[in-house]
Amino acid sequence: MTETQKTATLTIDGESYELPIYSPSAGPDVLDIRKLYGTAGVFTYDPGFTSTASCDSTITFIDGGKGELLHRGYPIDQLAEKSHYLEVCYLLLNGELPSAAELEEFENIVTRHTMIHDQMHYLFRGFRRDAHPMAIMVGVVGAMSAFYHDSTDITDPRQREIAAFRLIAKMPTIAAAAYKYSIGQPFVHPRNDLDYASNFLHMCFSVPAEEYQINPILARAMDRIFTLHADHEQNASTSTVRLASSSGANPFACVAAGIACLWGPAHGGANQACLEMLGEIGSVDRIPEFIARAKDKNDPFRLMGFGHRVYKNFDPRAKVMKQSADEVLELLGVENNPKLQVAKALEEAAINDPYFAEKKLFPNVDFYSGIILEAMGFPTSMFTPIFALSRTVGWVSQWKEMLNDPQNKIGRPRQLYLGETERDYTDIENR
Ligand code: CMC
Repeated sequence: MTETQKTATLTIDGESYELPIYSPSAGPDVLDIRKLYGTAGVFTYDPGFTSTASCDSTITFIDGGKGELLHRGYPIDQLAEKSHYLEVCYLLLNGELPSAAELEEFENIVTRHTMIHDQMHYLFRGFRRDAHPMAIMVGVVGAMSAFYHDSTDITDPRQREIAAFRLIAKMPTIAAAAYKYSIGQPFVHPRNDLDYASNFLHMCFSVPAEEYQINPILARAMDRIFTLHADHEQNASTSTVRLASSSGANPFACVAAGIACLWGPAHGGANQACLEMLGEIGSVDRIPEFIARAKDKNDPFRLMGFGHRVYKNFDPRAKVMKQSADEVLELLGVENNPKLQVAKALEEAAINDPYFAEKKLFPNVDFYSGIILEAMGFPTSMFTPIFALSRTVGWVSQWKEMLNDPQNKIGRPRQLYLGETERDYTDIENR
């Protein structure tokens, strides 16, 4: 963090306070208010953290105005085109692209941690058959701290490293098992001869009764979905992981907290909600009705897959996702998929509507991902678990960065209290 010569002056009741200003390597300057309460006795107020940098980080940078996403400086479209998920995982975790030998070693370690403890299967069986796979993921990932207690000591760098590998390697196995359980099929064990994405497809779609052929184009599309979701700086679930971790909680508990946060429809749950919305719209001629509802302040309906806290331009991930959707649907011979037709027409209608233009609401990553996943055969309930497994590396990288940060301290926001001031207890007969 570079302290510039710049400072800001804040005046309260005629008293002035100097606040240091930091210049980041990219993005807006940052005012340091850490000493403000100690010196001026006031808090800052920022619900939703719309103007607050909660940490410093070197992992991911987003320029929302330009629609740019960089991981360790590399643009997401280049990574999606030229790299693959496990290489991006290495990059996020370690800061640099790996050499061929480093990548081979990393892939080897991840591949050899994919099996889950056999007793974990009993945990799955404890859930109701119709449980949402995200409910199962929250529970099972939290329970990893009981199964892998030997990697929960966050003060030991080796245990931290093993926990990171375990989380990245086992998450597809857990997500696939949650799916298999929900459809009443036997759990499928991972195969070490398959790459990360192919192995996930194998664990989701193969059955012991017959051989399952993995289509390399679908495996590539799956890998791209993982890559596009790998990290997104200090979003709600990542901030949840960091906040949980700030108390010294173990990594499995922290990631379970991140999964819980991701589940909401304003965050990772949007891909499920978006596909359900496209189904509800049903046909292109009903689009004006739904656009009108999205604009109506008295109607809680929002266009799912549209808008973003940071992007005020096209989400660069949505562009790649749209192209991928076209490829996958063509391959599967379902180019005329009604949801894709509705999605394309809806995107066109919204982009050309002054409401969306003025508010800078563009399609986000979730707008097209659901269409690809549905075409691949995933039910909507699996969309958010797939987001969770992809984002695990982001959570783990940010967690690792935070633990190495000497400025790391417990997260403890303050509040603007508007409740009653002190009053005496009233006995029940007098109320
Ligand atoms: N449809 C209609 N109006 C919208 C939408 C939408 N999807 N999104 C925002 N607006 C309006 C909103 O009503 C508000 O209008 P006004 O200023 O008149 O009150 C204005 O745009 C700003 O919205 P906001 O809610 O203050 O913005 P935010 O930064 O707090 O919310 C968001 C960002 C992503 C939660 C929101 O755009 C949204 O709910 N989108 C739909 C859900 C979605 O697609 N989420 C996935 C996000 S990308 C994946 C991820 O990172 O998890």
